[in-house]
Formats: sequence, structure tokens, C-alpha cells
Amino acid sequence: AIIKCYAIFFFRPVWSVVVCALSFGSLGRLTRLPRAPVYDLVLRSSIHDHAGSNCFMKCLDGTLHEELYNTPEGDEPSHKMQPCRVQPLETDGVCYISDEVGLHRISNQSHTVPAVSLHLYSPPYEVCKSYNELNGEARCSGKMTFYSKKGVRCPTLEQ
Ligand code: NI
Repeated sequence: AIIKCYAIFFFRPVWSVVVCALSFGSLGRLTRLPRAPVYDLVLRSSIHDHAGSNCFMKCLDGTLHEELYNTPEGDEPSHKMQPCRVQPLETDGVCYISDEVGLHRISNQSHTVPAVSLHLYSPPYEVCKSYNELNGEARCSGKMTFYSKKGVRCPTLEQ
């Protein structure tokens, strides 16, 4: 089994999100360490899918909010995406999502308290899809950036 872990750190003072990931592969131990781009003035992820992966997320610190969306159908007229469920995830809370459950967006709505989350993906994926909230259009996310083996970065795996 291959498991990938993400830790997402939301730091309000610098408006950035750092993503760290760990993978354990059947062909030896792999660690992936992608770093997400700096977010603008909003501390939230895009609306995204999980590329067929199972995703377990734990809130390690602070409080996060998960907005759940239905995946737009191909022949649906474009319209603004509305969450079908919004739930808080307190420190130590765990949630699960997959493409069968839907799409989601994670945010830290606090103006003063940072939040940290840990994401486990199985199987790992290279890219997922982000959705335009205004019309439901999907586009490819950025590719995973950093890989390592037994804690040592492996640029040869980053091709
Ligand atoms: Ni997610």
C-alpha cells in the first residue's frame, strides 16, 4: 500500500500555505515534499477533487472549515458552485473525502489563530483538479514538486 501524507500550514501573518507530504511506497520508502504557492489574502484552498485517491485529513492545530461540493456534470450549464455542506473541523478532528463523496475546499476562517492539517492520500497522485467557483470549470492543479527517499530529497524522482 502507498500512503501519502500532507501537512498544510496556514500562517495568517504571511498569508502562505506550506504543504509537506510523506509517501511510503511498496518499492522502498518515498517521501514527497511539495510546497504550495503563496495564497492571496484568503486562507483557503481551491475547490478540488482527489484524483481517485482516498483522503484522510486531521486538523493538528486551530480550527478548519470544510465546504463540500457536488462534482459538476459535464453537460450542466455553468453556474456558481454552492457548497452542499459546511462543517468545522476542530483540533484533533478527522474527516474523509474521495471523489465518490464529492469535492471540497478547506479554509481557516480565523483572523488570529493559525491552523495546521495533515492529509493522508492512498494511492498517491501526481495532479488533481481545481474547480472555478464561478462556473464549475475544472483545470489541472500543479504537479507535486519535491520527492525524497528515506528523508533525503531525490531530484531524480522529480522529473
Ligand atoms: Ni482535499
